[in-house]
Amino acid sequence: MAFEFTAENKRKFDEILTRYPVQRAAMLPALWLAQQQHGWISHEVMEYVGSLLGLSPAKVYETVTFYTMFHLKPIGRHHFQVCRTLPCQLMGAEGITSHLEKKLGVKLGETSGDGRYTLSEVECLGSCGTAPMLQLNDDYHENLTPEKLDALIASLK
Ligand code: FES
Repeated sequence: MAFEFTAENKRKFDEILTRYPVQRAAMLPALWLAQQQHGWISHEVMEYVGSLLGLSPAKVYETVTFYTMFHLKPIGRHHFQVCRTLPCQLMGAEGITSHLEKKLGVKLGETSGDGRYTLSEVECLGSCGTAPMLQLNDDYHENLTPEKLDALIASLK
């Protein structure tokens, strides 16, 4: 089924447009809004957002693939994004990822069969002073230890 903004999101989109001098400049917030509604950026979403802004799907695709905050496939309800850049790496990011793989039963880059968890690695999230850290959906979790991860996972159940 083709994607369209809900009436409420269409209103938000119209409001976003008023903030930019040219329509195409609204592409990032428009895509973010679409992802919040749909959960990920499908081809239908790219076509729809492109049509609203007078841009080709190829131009939208270029942008979506550049920014890691956009998901090109469905993701789980709980999306763990472990920072893998050097400061986090030196503080044990690899162990964080492998602990999550074991506890969540999902391999890096994959989503669990029940759609509950997705595990990804990302580049620096700007919180190097509290390494190792991860982003779970919209929230940061910092100074991670295996115990903290276990408590975090338990809080999701
Ligand atoms: S290196 Fe991990 S937050 Fe910067």
